[in-house]
Amino acid sequence: MKTEFLGKSLSAPFTIPSGIVTCSAPIIQAFFDQIPEVGVLTTKSIGPTPRAGYREPILSQYSPGNFVNAVGLTNPGAERSAELMAELNIPEDRFLLVSIFGGSVEEYVEVARIMAPHADGLELNLSCPHAKGYGMAMGQDPDLVREITAAVKAAVDVPVVPKLTPNVPNIAEIAKAAEQGGADAICAINTLGPGSHYSHGAPVLSNGLGGMSGKGVLPIALKCASEIAEAVSIPVIGCGGISSADNVRSFKGAGASIFGIGSALVGMTTQQ
Ligand SMILES: Cc1cc2nc3c(=O)[nH]c(=O)nc-3n(C[C@H](O)[C@H](O)[C@H](O)COP(=O)(O)O)c2cc1C
Repeated sequence: MKTEFLGKSLSAPFTIPSGIVTCSAPIIQAFFDQIPEVGVLTTKSIGPTPRAGYREPILSQYSPGNFVNAVGLTNPGAERSAELMAELNIPEDRFLLVSIFGGSVEEYVEVARIMAPHADGLELNLSCPHAKGYGMAMGQDPDLVREITAAVKAAVDVPVVPKLTPNVPNIAEIAKAAEQGGADAICAINTLGPGSHYSHGAPVLSNGLGGMSGKGVLPIALKCASEIAEAVSIPVIGCGGISSADNVRSFKGAGASIFGIGSALVGMTTQQ
């Protein structure tokens, strides 16, 4: 299943999207060493400073295969993350996609500069729907998306992959802005919403609101992937609701060439 992606010949066209399991260096290294099916390793989103994130509960399954989450961009900060990533041994046929976020253009550039020496590419989280002032707040504005992408591109010499939110009226417009800013590929989608899940009359998540992922977002994710693929001429990493080989074929038909499988991994063990 050799796959060409941004200058590398990869072992397979699959990734696990940001924040699901590849949150620590030893886990990423285990994927490199033991699971060739995952050609692109996407890290948890990394910001300028350490963040504890929200109190638990941070993830809730509101119906089979469907989730809300509000982790709150938990991460050790760019400096510590760079030390951890520096210890990784990246095989020739895998791609380390380091996801980054910031609260301003300057913060994106700062984190990008710190992380780029340890990455095959940088994914720009312009799309988190539940961390105030971060992610989606910036990714809904095409001018800001163009500006952030261009600023990061000018600061680093690795490929840059903006990750878009489905929570916009016209995702093709945002994708075009990213391409104009110099994006090398686009990832879509981040979580939908945010929404709430209540149990016994009270919200389950400590944050109240959380981004929606899993099977139910598949139709929106496919719509977004096909609109993006029609609008731009760069590769699309498609994710959102994939839980079967047929879902992967759907994303391929929609124009994606790398496929992210996140929520569907919940409950799986290393024996499966
Ligand atoms: C628990 C959890 C944490 C996530 N953390 C991040 C994150 O840090 N950065 C990001 O860009 N996306 C994050 N996401 C979104 C996923 O990367 C993915 O875009 C989304 O879940 C849709 O894919 P899925 O339906 O296969 O899960 C997170 C999703 C979940 C469920």
